[in-house]
Amino acid sequence: MKLSAAFALFIDLRAAVRVAFWPTLKDVFHNPTLIFHISRTFMSHVWAAFAAPTDENGRAVKRGLLPNATGVVLDIGAGLGHTAQYLDRDKVTTYVALEPNTKMHAHIRQTAESAGFLESDGSLVILSFGAEDTMQIVEALGGRPHPVDTIISVLTLCSIPSPEHVMTSLVRDVLKPGGQVLFYEHVLSPRADVAWWQRFWTPLWRVFLDGCRLDCPTHVHISEMKSIAPNGEEVSMWAEGNTWGKPDEPEENLWWHQAGQFKKHE
Ligand SMILES: C[S@@+](CC[C@H](N)C(=O)[O-])C[C@H]1O[C@@H](n2cnc3c(N)ncnc32)[C@H](O)[C@@H]1O
Repeated sequence: MKLSAAFALFIDLRAAVRVAFWPTLKDVFHNPTLIFHISRTFMSHVWAAFAAPTDENGRAVKRGLLPNATGVVLDIGAGLGHTAQYLDRDKVTTYVALEPNTKMHAHIRQTAESAGFLESDGSLVILSFGAEDTMQIVEALGGRPHPVDTIISVLTLCSIPSPEHVMTSLVRDVLKPGGQVLFYEHVLSPRADVAWWQRFWTPLWRVFLDGCRLDCPTHVHISEMKSIAPNGEEVSMWAEGNTWGKPDEPEENLWWHQAGQFKKHE
């Protein structure tokens, strides 16, 4: 791997510090308890500056993926709500934006409203739980099991501790039988040299970026998810599924992307 690619992380880290250092310090000055959530506060300033270019960068893949969402859509880690812009308003009845960082909610509301999802008619629901709070999500969506038709994760599972367990429990308890998962994530590279650098940088990167890992094989975790059949046997959770990459992405990218569409068994 070229050293320029291996050390590309410093360019991003420097840009992140440049936009987020002083605003984070200001926030902590005004509310000293934020010192306990400093990485999350820092990340919210980073995302305010970089969500739009990151969205632009993934637009081609998202355009092929996200319009497949139907019915009640749960967007885990909604950020500033960019996903809403890709949904087909005729196929999606409700956009549920799950975002634990409440500083982002006003922006989600604005983006979702411009895509035609409104809290006033119930087509927009904003929840401040984490993706791991499965039971609270079910309760907030009416209390009946499996209230969601589509689960979406865009660049979120890298920041969630034990993402394989969280996704298994979301798919088992929140997603309808026959429902689908759509994801677009940066993941562990299949190239051993790139994966080595991803593992090397992750401890530093995650301290600054709210737990974000570069070395998470999310696409593998999702495709290998299992459930227990009535006869006690472990079986694949999926009736069908597919993963694909970002066209023309350099193999040496530390943020190597995969998208996927998986359908749960009926
Ligand atoms: C890199 S941003 C991606 C935002 C959005 N999906 C997008 O593509 O624009 C990751 C988001 O995940 C959220 N997040 C972090 N931990 C989470 C958790 N445990 N459950 C749900 N979301 C979480 C962060 O607050 C942040 O908004």
